[in-house]
Amino acid sequence: MEKRKSTIGIGICLMVLGIGVAACAPPKTGLPQGPTAIPTLAPITEIVGQLESTPTQSFAHLSYPARPPSAQSGQGIYDTNCAQCHGADGNGVVPAARNFRDLDYMRGETPASFFTAIAEGRGEMPAFDNTLTSDEIWDSVFYVWRLSTNAETLTQGQQIFNENCASCHGGDGAGLVLGSADFTDPRQTGSLAPRDLYQTITQGLGSMPAWQSRLSQDERWDVIDYLRTFTYDPALAEEVVTVAPQTPTTTLDACDPEQENPLTWEDRTAIEAGQVTYEAQCALCHGQDGSGGLPNTPDFTSGEAQDKLHESPGNFYCAISEGVGAMPSFSNQLSQESHWQVLTYLGSLAP
Ligand code: HEC
Ligand code: HEC
Ligand code: HEC
Repeated sequence: MEKRKSTIGIGICLMVLGIGVAACAPPKTGLPQGPTAIPTLAPITEIVGQLESTPTQSFAHLSYPARPPSAQSGQGIYDTNCAQCHGADGNGVVPAARNFRDLDYMRGETPASFFTAIAEGRGEMPAFDNTLTSDEIWDSVFYVWRLSTNAETLTQGQQIFNENCASCHGGDGAGLVLGSADFTDPRQTGSLAPRDLYQTITQGLGSMPAWQSRLSQDERWDVIDYLRTFTYDPALAEEVVTVAPQTPTTTLDACDPEQENPLTWEDRTAIEAGQVTYEAQCALCHGQDGSGGLPNTPDFTSGEAQDKLHESPGNFYCAISEGVGAMPSFSNQLSQESHWQVLTYLGSLAP
């Protein structure tokens, strides 16, 4: 790849000066260190219903999509404008043209740097900012991106996401727990390469646990491919992604805050079963020992929480079954018996 960083940067600054947008600030930290400087990520087009409204200007090198890009629309654009060099399959025909099915290559790349490369041209590749609109370039970026994954992987990734991530990140990826990332915002995810995401997921970040010992490497890559679909529509004419709805396993009746624990607080079997549920479903947020993890989580080992739990366990039951604040509802996942088992376990965490 060519080292054109400085000239591109200056060119963009000069053009932007005329419009009066402060886009010449040094790139934010966390941007990829590739040969192409991605200009300041000020969005200049509006994403309907996703981003706050921003002034509309058509300025290819800096723009973010005005609507979620579509791999299927990108396919038509690709066949007409790109296939002659990159091959109908995306595996590269012209010397130096990239192979978009090469995972080693693709996992180090970002949609934002692809956008800039296509808009500006690179090496033998012409600039497309005069022939394609910004949205068309985004469509082609995500068609090319889609070549590095497939429907089966995306479906698997979705299942992993729903089981492990949705409780904090929300089923729609927009972020449920305070401070969790918003995967639907291309300004947040567009400049992250799969390898960056892999590192974060593997090692954890802030109050997010590390997934190294909980998910296999393949599972982590699958969920990353799925994460990306929060910013584009992965459907292709010939390869339909069946996105499975989160299927409730049980559904409980409305809870009664006055109800008493039907189990005895000393029931060892219940405590042990409750501990298994706790470690699988609750420890991520409440801490391994129950003393608190995410912001706002109570310290279950404190005398105060223990008094509350033993005096009116129905309130705690309702918190679990209906959810409270950033905590999701468990009425679809845990039976009534599991609710009481996990509460009996919590009751055994006396200080
Ligand atoms: C005339 C041939 C040609 C055409 C047409 C062409 N490309 Fe390229 N493309 C190349 C070559 C050669 C490279 C490698 C450039 C380099 O880094 O030297 C490349 C690189 C790329 C890259 C990688 C950029 C990077 O930063 O690594 C992307 C993405 C890409 N092309 C997408 C497209 C898309 C999408 C289209 C159609 C809208 C397209 N190309 C049309 C030849 C072409
Ligand atoms: C216990 C709640 C919780 C769960 C469960 C969780 N996350 Fe997170 N995640 C967070 C929080 C909070 C952050 C923000 C961390 C920070 O910035 O300090 C975060 C950040 C991230 C980021 C970083 C995004 C960026 O901008 O760099 C990625 C990627 C991510 N999570 C993926 C996942 C995946 C994949 C899963 C499921 C395998 C998952 N998370 C499960 C709470 C969670
Ligand atoms: C995604 C993170 C998350 C998960 C998973 C989670 N919780 Fe919570 N939980 C919270 C947060 C945050 C609060 C504090 C809510 C508030 O008050 O705003 C809370 C509150 C509670 C309360 C209410 C305490 C009170 O004082 O009213 C109980 C009980 C509770 N959680 C039990 C559980 C159990 C049992 C599980 C597992 C089955 C669980 N939680 C799973 C985040 C979570």
